[in-house]
Amino acid sequence: MLMAGVDVGFGFTKASSGETSVLFKSIVGEAQPRNLGDRFFDGMGLEGVHITLNDRSYFVGELAESESRVRQFTLDQAQMVAHQFKVLSLAALSRVAASRVPVNVVTGLPVGYYVEFKDRLAESLKGEHSLVLHEDGQANEVALSVNRVKVIPQPYGSLVDHLFRDDGTLMRQDVARQKIGIVDIGFKTTDFTVCRGLQHSERGSRTTDTGMAKAFQFIAEALHEMSGINVEIYRLFGAVQQGSIKIRGAEYDISKVKDEVFSRLAAAVVNEMERVWVDDWDLDLVLLAGGGGEALYEYLKPMVRGQLDLLQTREDPRMANVYGYLKYGKYYYDAPPEKGAG
Ligand SMILES: Nc1ncnc2c1ncn2[C@@H]1O[C@H](COP(=O)(O)OP(=O)(O)OP(=O)(O)O)[C@@H](O)[C@H]1O
Ligand SMILES: [Mg+2]
Repeated sequence: MLMAGVDVGFGFTKASSGETSVLFKSIVGEAQPRNLGDRFFDGMGLEGVHITLNDRSYFVGELAESESRVRQFTLDQAQMVAHQFKVLSLAALSRVAASRVPVNVVTGLPVGYYVEFKDRLAESLKGEHSLVLHEDGQANEVALSVNRVKVIPQPYGSLVDHLFRDDGTLMRQDVARQKIGIVDIGFKTTDFTVCRGLQHSERGSRTTDTGMAKAFQFIAEALHEMSGINVEIYRLFGAVQQGSIKIRGAEYDISKVKDEVFSRLAAAVVNEMERVWVDDWDLDLVLLAGGGGEALYEYLKPMVRGQLDLLQTREDPRMANVYGYLKYGKYYYDAPPEKGAG
């Protein structure tokens, strides 16, 4: 059976089938009529998808960001599950899964929302979905056939990617036996999870609102003061990475404000970590994951007591959860019956 992993984050939607992978911003917008051809130059296509689902058309990802007049972008979990999740995940799946071929899917939720939303998430993906994928000026019908759906807490994606092989077998036996704390810093949320000998600890698991968006909000405010322009936070990624941004022709240096807000955010994460894990002083290792984990690693390192390791299984840190989901899928769906039940 084919397998796909989908990680719908507040910042980015990521999916992979092992062979093909996609990553785009988690933005859904109204589709606009496009009278001109899609592309004027080769190799300049926008990331993102134009999909039609149940007779409604959406732009998804960067395409929505640059072309839709009405855009939905949310930082609210209930809203995400109710409105955007299905469009984002099916758009991603339609790019990585083959049409008319049944696929088993693994996806995730922040630990703090896992119990509340996991069934609804699975229900919204399971079954047959027919959609029309508009790419390169062509409309292609895609019949997605989702066989089984397994939902796991998001940070387990990263943990599994670190511990398991591609075929779903355990690679780091000794580490797996240890007590590991995982911190997954995303765009909106930070997830804390504790796992000992691959057993989940409820006590050490929590989702907080201390994501990278907080830092971006401060930077946007500083930019507003400097330039008078309101820059939407999801348009700041590139600028923050480069340390400067061009607005209406003027170049603004944001490296200093970035340094300041990143170290404040790192301090907030450490603060929460000490509170959430107040009874878990016996951790062998803290594993730092998520796109924000990489961004904050240098700031966090001097503040954390004990061993802090940055997860470095993937070139792009945002993809680790999704590759872990795939490995988990191999473990869970393809394993001998005693493990694969359920
Ligand atoms: N190439 C990149 N482009 C944009 N952001 C990047 C890049 N590399 C790392 N990042 C960082 O990754 C963060 C997003 O990480 P990630 O994809 O793990 O979040 P998410 O899963 O969408 O959010 P959440 O877990 O809160 O739902 C950004 O806020 C940014 O700081
Ligand atoms: Mg995430």
